[in-house]
Amino acid sequence: MKAFIHDIPKAELHIHIEGSLEPELMFEIANRNGLSLPFNSVEEVRRAYEFTNLQSFLDIYYQGLQVLRFEEDFYDLTWAYMKKARAQNVRHTEIFFDPQAHTRRGVSFETVVMGIHDALVDARQQLDVSSKLIMCFLRHLSAEDAMETLRQALPFKNWIIGVGLDSSEVGHPPEKFTQVFEKAREEGFLTVAHAGEEGPADYIWQALKKLKVSRIDHGVRCTEDPKLVEKLVAEQIPLTVCPLSNVKLRVFNSLQEHNLKQLLELGLCVTVNSDDPAYFGGYIEENFLAVQKALNLDQNHIYRLVRNSFQASFLDQREKQNLLAELESFMSKSKQRNLRRDGEGNP
Ligand code: HPA
Ligand code: ZN
Repeated sequence: MKAFIHDIPKAELHIHIEGSLEPELMFEIANRNGLSLPFNSVEEVRRAYEFTNLQSFLDIYYQGLQVLRFEEDFYDLTWAYMKKARAQNVRHTEIFFDPQAHTRRGVSFETVVMGIHDALVDARQQLDVSSKLIMCFLRHLSAEDAMETLRQALPFKNWIIGVGLDSSEVGHPPEKFTQVFEKAREEGFLTVAHAGEEGPADYIWQALKKLKVSRIDHGVRCTEDPKLVEKLVAEQIPLTVCPLSNVKLRVFNSLQEHNLKQLLELGLCVTVNSDDPAYFGGYIEENFLAVQKALNLDQNHIYRLVRNSFQASFLDQREKQNLLAELESFMSKSKQRNLRRDGEGNP
């Protein structure tokens, strides 16, 4: 099962690039930028990663990303994640970034997006991993601030497939951003939103109805509303679920109590993702391994989760078919291996 999870081709659809900043790289970038960190060592940073809820994480996340100042920093951050993705057989990834977390510190939108984009182009060529970029608005800031950020993104429209919504959920409902998302859709961006992580099922309804999103990020609280579950199943609206994140931020008390298997068995299009891998104890493979063990998932569950990830991606139809074909070919080889192995065990 371990090898199966490692080897199976997968897509990641919910990863905040700033949340992939490992403490080692944080120190390296801080040093070269002449910045001092409020920590003395990598171990001390890791020890600080004890969270009680989403806000307690966000406070540390916004602190960590302050070392990122120059294009090269964003390049190195993104390149490190793409190498990790390649090593875990991620074939396609859709990456969030938080421009406002940088522009409000005086780092230009252009610096951020150029650094990330260049690394994604190199990863496509050198690692054969494809990607899309999704710009998130910080929902604790105003709708006007989000609108200004959208304006700054327009010259880079060809590099950004969609817009999303992240940061502190409770008290900042999706409807606060109705106009911004309307304008984003007019400009040709696809839309997604974090909803139903800490916030109620009603926030998922709002994201669907008011922001007209194609996917819900997290969405695990949808089960509190059977009518909502019915809609998500009927329309196969994907949920990008992040199991280790949900336990670290105490959305669930333990992985054993996570509703991922229930969601899958209800017929929802659920996917497995890492969210902020440097902070939550693992990348996509570690998420799959942990949840497989905790919920006793079989190979067919894993297969359905990764197939969902390709189907829910923003790839065009041809690229999607190619990756789905790669998955099917992996599965038939894996079945042959299983048959041979079982055969060897018999007289
Ligand atoms: N939730 C909300 N906002 C975020 C997250 C998250 O998990 N990670 C980075 N911004
Ligand atoms: Zn997230």
